[in-house]
Amino acid sequence: MTPILMLGAGRMGGALIEGWRGAGAFQASDLIIREPHANPTLEAAKAAGAVVNPLDAELARARTVLLAVKPQMWREAAAEVAEHLAPEAVIVSIAAGVRAADISQAFGGRAVARVMPTTAVAVGQGTASIYAADPQARACAHALFAPVGTVVDLQDEELMHAATAVSGSSPAYLYAFVEALEAAGASAGLPAADSAKLARATIAGAATLMARSGVEPAELRRQVTSPGGTTQAALDVLLAEDGFPELLRKAVAAAARRSEELGG
Ligand SMILES: NC(=O)c1ccc[n+]([C@@H]2O[C@H](COP(=O)([O-])OP(=O)(O)OC[C@H]3O[C@@H](n4cnc5c(N)ncnc54)[C@H](OP(=O)(O)O)[C@@H]3O)[C@@H](O)[C@H]2O)c1
Repeated sequence: MTPILMLGAGRMGGALIEGWRGAGAFQASDLIIREPHANPTLEAAKAAGAVVNPLDAELARARTVLLAVKPQMWREAAAEVAEHLAPEAVIVSIAAGVRAADISQAFGGRAVARVMPTTAVAVGQGTASIYAADPQARACAHALFAPVGTVVDLQDEELMHAATAVSGSSPAYLYAFVEALEAAGASAGLPAADSAKLARATIAGAATLMARSGVEPAELRRQVTSPGGTTQAALDVLLAEDGFPELLRKAVAAAARRSEELGG
């Protein structure tokens, strides 16, 4: 499946390059990268043997094409390279909301997998929701993302909207939660710097414990909640009728709806 041609190496493409390097998944020499802007990740990949901004004739070597430009740029990126690719090249797209059938058509009918990743692939702890009708394209997407995170296979392309809402967009929900917790700690009298330190370290530690222990979140919650105690007092507010469950149901529905609108 190599060489891998990357169309775009910005935030997400760059995160993948870093993650692959950390996991020892692909060599820089396996990468051919088209990216108009220099950045430190790109420079490091180039120094390690990646081909950056190749001549059109080199594009025929690519066996996998990773479409990693912003959704509004994808047609232009496809049009620039499609005619130069080998017929057997497989397309793996991370462009949010863009349908597999449209991508396949723009790439001359080649097989396509769609992936909704998260930037934590950079540290080997990403998440990737994968949809592909074609088994080879699905296998290709697995090979790209399994070394740098948790992979979930979707059987229906329509589920990409929900996966985007629950996974692609949700790191921002957690960051917003931490911001609010820090502010609440300051309101309760803590110096702002101490509140920030406590909130960030506590949430990161709790998330690591959940990931490493494999214990259900509901059980972990019970383990730290004494009846009538301080945590219970806070949870009575957070889990009230209009609290977290309802709020997140609405937030996820809003994100999924927006994904549908963007997909056209
Ligand atoms: N960032 C995330 O958290 C995240 C999560 C899930 C999925 N995604 C998906 O990942 C894709 C990329 O997002 P991103 O945040 O990495 O965007 P980004 O930082 O803007 O990176 C895309 C890069 O591709 C370059 N580019 C534009 N047109 C190109 C072309 N024709 N050929 C080659 N390179 C070209 C861009 O240059 P210019 O700046 O000049 O346009 C930019 O440097 C999007 O489709 C997004 O839906 C992102």
